[in-house]
Amino acid sequence: MTLEAKIAKLAKAAVQVLYAIEATDEQIQLQKTRPEFEGNITLVVFPFVKMARKAPQLVGDEIGNWLLANGEGLIAKFNAVQGFLNLSINDAFWVEQLKAIDADDNYGRFEYPNVKCQMSNEAQPLMMVEYSSPNTNKPLHLGHVRNNLLGYSIAQIQEANGWKVVKTNIVNDRGIHICKSMLAWLKYGNGETPESSGKKGDHLVGDYYVRFDQENKKDPSLIEEAQEMLRKWEANDPEVRALWAKMNNWVYAGFDETYKRLGVSFDKIYYESNTYLEGKSEVEKGLASGQFYRREDGSVWADLTKDGLDEKLLLRSDGTSVYMTQDIGTAKLRFQDYPIDKMVYVVGNEQEYHFKVLSILLDRLGFPFGKELVHFSYGMVELPNGKMKSREGTVVDADDLMDKMIDDAKEISKDKVNTLQGITEDEANEIARKVGLGALKYFILKVDPRKNMLFNPAESIDFNGNTGPFIQYTYARIQSVLRKADESSCRHDVTTSLDPKELSLIQRLCEYPSIVRTAGDDFSPAVICNYAYALACDFNSFYHDLSILNEPDEAKRALRLLLAKNVAKVLKSAFALLGIEMPERM
Ligand code: ARG
Repeated sequence: MTLEAKIAKLAKAAVQVLYAIEATDEQIQLQKTRPEFEGNITLVVFPFVKMARKAPQLVGDEIGNWLLANGEGLIAKFNAVQGFLNLSINDAFWVEQLKAIDADDNYGRFEYPNVKCQMSNEAQPLMMVEYSSPNTNKPLHLGHVRNNLLGYSIAQIQEANGWKVVKTNIVNDRGIHICKSMLAWLKYGNGETPESSGKKGDHLVGDYYVRFDQENKKDPSLIEEAQEMLRKWEANDPEVRALWAKMNNWVYAGFDETYKRLGVSFDKIYYESNTYLEGKSEVEKGLASGQFYRREDGSVWADLTKDGLDEKLLLRSDGTSVYMTQDIGTAKLRFQDYPIDKMVYVVGNEQEYHFKVLSILLDRLGFPFGKELVHFSYGMVELPNGKMKSREGTVVDADDLMDKMIDDAKEISKDKVNTLQGITEDEANEIARKVGLGALKYFILKVDPRKNMLFNPAESIDFNGNTGPFIQYTYARIQSVLRKADESSCRHDVTTSLDPKELSLIQRLCEYPSIVRTAGDDFSPAVICNYAYALACDFNSFYHDLSILNEPDEAKRALRLLLAKNVAKVLKSAFALLGIEMPERM
């Protein structure tokens, strides 16, 4: 039973005995005691004041005294301040909590999610998280970085919350934009390949996409050629298909490298070229069943006016499909492949309307997850002007950004890292990689995803303040203490009387599971970031005041070592939920 549950039970008994009140769960309001007061957990007594017919102060004192006498030793002392009853929980309880955390290899992970809704018959409900979803005409950029980081982190958080999670990606691999880079390559490429040019495949193809636009400005008839190519593609023309397959494969090899470096992965990848025909046939079915209608020109539409939206095109008059058609087909295949209970789409906020419509259409077509689908919508991310030259002058390339972050980390941590005993160059590079990417990821994930944001590399990599490297450094520092500690002090019995800084650090550790729950309920990596930062700050304040290895009292030293070890364990676990690795030295 959690501390809150224990106190709630005791408080219910107290008001029942003292005032004959049958308190409901809502009336038991508990909060962490504010730092300016003494105590760990606070019971709000106002809900009982009226029925007790006594002043708030007196009610607080009476409940406090009752708990002290009947709380089975759990409560060490109390103070009541104007209707707030601040309770100090005895040290032995906290020490037991710490030992329990230490013994729990799955601390902060749940077997089942916190959901009451109707789920499939599977023992564990399944959430599919779609993220990334690039187009194959250009490399990944800063916007994709935010998308990938959010998607991956959400998947980790929901898995910790007990969902079975399938990470998925829909690659938009066909359409006019792809034909543009194909055509430009055919015309101006002279057979250039990633090997011959030394360029990553996605960058090479992206360069031809840019080239198309430049050439099309000079010769506007080029777009017609591209359209002709798309028609040939749809008609399965072997030459066009072969070129398409070749160039897409270059792009996939490039994407794979970027994903790997970014530390994200997928369980199942869907390709638009395989799903759009499914979408068409779903639309035809909807047409037959009267869900949709056909206009005189042959185009097919959904009337969404009853839902407060407008009319939505699903098939053009020439029978070709649109973006929405593809999404319907993709949903169909996904639902065939997995017993999806909850579908989450991580896609930028410029597509909010699209997902509103998709939700209604899927619902009408009878997909159980349609109505409740989650569009995890996020805002734009930009770099301050001039911070980094971008490839096409407009967007910042994901690979270039990672290079820069890792280089910066190397430069900034040079003095620290190069003095580490016996460090090899490979190790130093590995530290820079973890720190550079940690800075990037943490800075992006700590922000409310709905907000547009500015990514500032210098600020993100600061070793002080609310940054990834600060928290990584706290972790590495603990590892260094633990490496120096001798075996016997780690095994010694721990003290049962605590310093206030030790106690509040243990209390912070105890909050972790409920933080994971909140992050899951709110789909919020930022909740994990804030917690990790608070924990790191608490640890540093504890470590500043109290020494670990130089503490002469063995029982105290043992407790502090146990505490440090578990702070490191929770920091590492929290960072894993963000997709951030911890360096063992730094
Ligand atoms: N590839 C699309 C784009 O770049 C995003 C796809 C989002 N996912 C989806 N299921 N529609 O805009």
